[in-house]
Amino acid sequence: MKFFSRFVLSTLFAAAALAQNVYIASPAAGSSVTPGSDITVEVSQPDGQSSWVESALVLGWWPCDGSSEDPCLPASEVLGELLYNGGPFKPTFYNTENVISQNITVNIPSSTPAGYALLQVAHFVLVGAELGPVVQTFSVNLTVV
Ligand SMILES: *[C@@H]1O[C@H](CO)[C@@H](O)[C@H](O)[C@H]1NC(C)=O
Ligand SMILES: *[C@@H]1O[C@H](CO)[C@@H](O)[C@H](O)[C@H]1NC(C)=O
Repeated sequence: MKFFSRFVLSTLFAAAALAQNVYIASPAAGSSVTPGSDITVEVSQPDGQSSWVESALVLGWWPCDGSSEDPCLPASEVLGELLYNGGPFKPTFYNTENVISQNITVNIPSSTPAGYALLQVAHFVLVGAELGPVVQTFSVNLTVV
């Protein structure tokens, strides 16, 4: 039990120290996208206090209308169609608020029906000296025209 709690606690502390989740800075929620076009996705993360090792960043695409046949599910449950599976998040830009970002170009699948779609993010990161594994997820709701 002692061993267990020490391990869990250090992972939780490390995760808390990392503090904020990755998010999609651009496109903003509600932005319009056209099937078949390329868009630039700016993935950002506030810089954390602790050390961490980047492992993987995945972007998915989940068109949905919110009905029971076509539910809008969070990125923690589905990624949908794979748009990007590009290995580590490699932020290159450091702004004055200590937000780090990376631009990734993805192609919106040409088969996407008009309506709404979730652009899904999953970020796998190893936090702290003991490399606690953490999966962070985020979604942005886009309008498909
Ligand atoms: C996406 O945005 C539209 C328009 O605001 C809304 O009707 C729909 O419920 C949103 N979908 C999700 C999953 O948030
Ligand atoms: C991403 O692209 C946008 C638009 O071109 C630009 O304003 C932004 O600085 C870029 N961010 C990074 C991290 O390169």
